[in-house]
Amino acid sequence: MQIPFKFNPSQLSSSVFFILLSFCYSANGFGTMGPISASFGEYEVFCSIDASGKQDVICWGKNATSLQTSSSSSYVTNIPAMSALSGGEGFLCGILANTSQAFCWAATSKQNADPVLVPALYRNTAYSRIAAGKNHVCAVRGSYYSDRDSGTVDCWEVSKKRKNGTLTLTAVVNDLFSDQSVVNLEMNSVVSGEGFTCGGVRDGGLVCWGPNSTSLKVSNVSDSFSVLSAGRTAVCGVSNVSGDVRCWGDIEPPTTTEVCFVSLSGGAHHFCGVREDNHVVQCWGNLSSSLVPKGYGFLAIASSDYTTCGIREDDLLLDCWLVNASKADFDPPLELSSPGLCKSSSCGVNEFDFNVSVLNEPDLTSLCVRQDLRICSPCGYNCSQGFFLSSPCTRNSDRVCTACSLCQNSSCLSVCRLHSSNGFFHWHHIRRWVVIVGSSALCLLLILVCGCFWGCCACSRGQLHGTKKQSKSCIGKHEQEDHDDVIGISNGHLHSFPSAGSCPGLPQVFRLSELKDATNGFKEFNELGRGSHGFVYKANLGDGRVVAVKRANAATIIHTNNREFEMELEILCKIRHCNVVNLLGYCAEMGERLLVYEYMSHGTLSDHIHGGLSPLNWSLRLKIAMQSAKGVEYLHKELLPPIVHKDLKSSSILLDSEWGARVSDFGLVTSSDKDLNGDLESDVYSFGIVLLEILSGRKAHDIDFDPPNVVEWAVPLIKQGKAAALIDRSVALPRNVEPLLKLGDIAELAVRENPSERPSMSDIASWLEQIVKDGLIL
Ligand SMILES: *[C@@H]1O[C@H](CO)[C@@H](O)[C@H](O)[C@H]1NC(C)=O
Ligand SMILES: *[C@@H]1O[C@H](CO)[C@@H](O)[C@H](O)[C@H]1NC(C)=O
Ligand SMILES: *[C@@H]1O[C@H](CO)[C@@H](O)[C@H](O)[C@H]1NC(C)=O
Ligand SMILES: *[C@@H]1O[C@H](CO)[C@@H](O)[C@H](O)[C@H]1NC(C)=O
Ligand SMILES: *[C@@H]1O[C@H](CO)[C@@H](O)[C@H](O)[C@H]1NC(C)=O
Ligand SMILES: *[C@@H]1O[C@H](CO)[C@@H](O)[C@H](O)[C@H]1NC(C)=O
Ligand SMILES: *[C@@H]1O[C@H](CO)[C@@H](O)[C@H](O)[C@H]1NC(C)=O
Ligand SMILES: *[C@@H]1O[C@H](CO)[C@@H](O)[C@H](O)[C@H]1NC(C)=O
Ligand SMILES: *[C@@H]1O[C@H](CO)[C@@H](O)[C@H](O)[C@H]1NC(C)=O
Ligand SMILES: *[C@@H]1O[C@H](CO)[C@@H](O)[C@H](O)[C@H]1NC(C)=O
Ligand SMILES: *[C@@H]1O[C@H](CO)[C@@H](O)[C@H](O)[C@H]1NC(C)=O
Repeated sequence: MQIPFKFNPSQLSSSVFFILLSFCYSANGFGTMGPISASFGEYEVFCSIDASGKQDVICWGKNATSLQTSSSSSYVTNIPAMSALSGGEGFLCGILANTSQAFCWAATSKQNADPVLVPALYRNTAYSRIAAGKNHVCAVRGSYYSDRDSGTVDCWEVSKKRKNGTLTLTAVVNDLFSDQSVVNLEMNSVVSGEGFTCGGVRDGGLVCWGPNSTSLKVSNVSDSFSVLSAGRTAVCGVSNVSGDVRCWGDIEPPTTTEVCFVSLSGGAHHFCGVREDNHVVQCWGNLSSSLVPKGYGFLAIASSDYTTCGIREDDLLLDCWLVNASKADFDPPLELSSPGLCKSSSCGVNEFDFNVSVLNEPDLTSLCVRQDLRICSPCGYNCSQGFFLSSPCTRNSDRVCTACSLCQNSSCLSVCRLHSSNGFFHWHHIRRWVVIVGSSALCLLLILVCGCFWGCCACSRGQLHGTKKQSKSCIGKHEQEDHDDVIGISNGHLHSFPSAGSCPGLPQVFRLSELKDATNGFKEFNELGRGSHGFVYKANLGDGRVVAVKRANAATIIHTNNREFEMELEILCKIRHCNVVNLLGYCAEMGERLLVYEYMSHGTLSDHIHGGLSPLNWSLRLKIAMQSAKGVEYLHKELLPPIVHKDLKSSSILLDSEWGARVSDFGLVTSSDKDLNGDLESDVYSFGIVLLEILSGRKAHDIDFDPPNVVEWAVPLIKQGKAAALIDRSVALPRNVEPLLKLGDIAELAVRENPSERPSMSDIASWLEQIVKDGLIL
């Protein structure tokens, strides 16, 4: 450690900060009790405290789908407001937000004999901590909100009886967990597993008791633990002395040293922890680490036997992953969760006080039921790969991480360059995502909404800073002030480019309620399309405009890193062309991501040339070929980095109300992509297929033809000078077929096997333009 030459306040505070970091200090771990928890065993249910400011509880089971309204995705309903949650086997417990009393409920809500699952003896006692295990609950006496954070422990059993196939749970007082050696000890934390409870003793030390506690082999432990968590048969904790993770029972501590954890959570044979430095999750034990989310951070996590779910730091969305199966059968609802527990004490030195204004919910003044409560979350001080630290953690905001693509000077260059060997991975990742994005709804959370606002005004200057910081200062204001402006600009453009299609102005921020109304509550009859990543709806806005709204589903949102998304939006904002389906605006509220696009009233090219819609005459077909070529040329040539479409086909070319062709559903690749040329050439190939479809009217692959592949079928004919045989006979032949034969020649070049023999999109666009200009068609 370096000692500053002179002391000034800022040096002092940063050196203090550094000392604390090097001590791996954590004032406040979530342990097993937290804002999110799970019941394990047969009835796996996760619950979290929501971000509505009411501390309501949201629960979801294995099959909860989230495209429906939020209430129908809730698994168990009518749970009172909670301060904290802890899950046992087949049941969950919490501390009531208003009275600090314990409250437990069966994970299968209807099969519940005793609705409160707390023995009458303990129902009127206030508790500060609670820990549910397999068949028992232990809780620390004392008000949840008092400064005194230790007390003696009460335990009771939750007995389960199966009658006629129905599980009945009852709370009973017995002495299974009353241990004379601990009954008088004051504890400041408790965690429970299968037949044991462990507690952190106020004056230091860890004790475990209960019938199965001996197998943990916890003895003579004098450390205090800043974070403590139990799995089924193991306990792990972060020592507040060494900062190391120590484990007892049938799990080893993680092999990585020098990593501090601010939160731990245990399952049947695995543990996961939130790293202090960058808030990324790291897991150990029996699990496949490839399934653990990378590249974005969490504020709290919880585990059932084989699943872990967490609350993401970027957007407070829920995200779940399994230990050994990539298919996430836990699709959590799209509701935002509370980032932490509401407390009355002030935040510690390396914590920040979560500022509710970042949620951009005008009616929300606090995430807690009482104004005097606050949520203190652990500060991060590093960013995940591909991001640099643009501002450190402060009293009321976490550190801000900005995408390396926005790095402008030496202060971030070293961090960003450090990982530049992995830069390819990074962009690769994005590309994969954006291929999805083109067809799915990507919409920003408040951060990104603002980012795009800035982006669209400033992306040409390369000034976008889509960061949390700025969102605070520009969101809200923009939304109100610019609202009318934006419509004005859009309308202006609409009117000034009537035939070229509408090239709109700045993206507009929409309210969720506005889009809900415009789509009749996202009712199915408004759907324009349905993809694996979300739905597209036709929406009639209050101002008379008709737009297309793409709404991402939960899986898409959850498997997208918000920061990557931030970079995507930067790029999407730059895309403005009359032969491209342009973004008009977006909405990001309560976990939703909605993108508002220009509405293309005449559907897809495919619908017309292969489907039941009007078959399009030859002059229109040539114009559509030319315009879509220009749209793709724009993506390839005029954007920096260029965008590779990756999924060019007749159904991704849409027709606007003027029958203008518009390219949609594109992906993107940057110039850092080593195989950029190969990618551009494969777009040209795909475009050649579209030209063959336009010429012949047959599909790219059609088993009614021999060979079924349109290239194998058409190219030999073109090469033999028999291209006329390809011409679609469902529309009247033009007087002069010469332009169509030329179209065939262009297509033949575009689908050449050797990519280097293919022309560029610019060549194709200019040749087609010439054909259209010559106007010899009729
Ligand atoms: C989830 O769905 C599967 C099949 O779709 C069904 O077999 C299973 O019982 C469902 N589980 C729950 C908890 O509803
Ligand atoms: C506390 O909340 C519970 C559940 O909402 C309610 O039943 C109870 O009456 C409340 N108690 C007080 C003292 O407000
Ligand atoms: C068990 O279920 C059967 C039919 O499902 C019913 O006839 C019987 O009365 C039930 N027994 C009890 C004890 O509830
Ligand atoms: C103790 O552990 C065994 C095996 O892990 C388990 O079957 C039993 O239910 C546990 N005891 C209690 C009281 O939970
Ligand atoms: C407990 O630990 C202390 C110091 O770590 C050691 O001196 C003492 O002998 C230990 N006691 C037992 C019973 O192991
Ligand atoms: C560790 O915990 C003990 C007991 O709670 C406390 O007295 C001590 O100050 C803590 N040490 C650090 C470094 O936080
Ligand atoms: C991990 O899983 C494997 C295969 O399921 C099993 O054989 C092994 O015992 C497990 N190890 C632990 C520590 O649970
Ligand atoms: C995951 O592992 C658990 C325990 O090892 C096992 O019960 C479960 O079937 C496994 N699931 C898959 C999909 O392999
Ligand atoms: C944390 O930041 C430092 C620079 O401040 C960097 O050297 C280090 O690699 C970062 N660690 C991680 C895990 O990103
Ligand atoms: C580097 O740029 C950031 C903004 O991107 C700015 O805040 C910072 O002061 C700059 N640092 C230097 C050393 O110029
Ligand atoms: C929260 O953020 C808003 C907007 O930036 C700011 O006006 C307010 O003072 C902040 N609240 C606290 C407690 O810092």
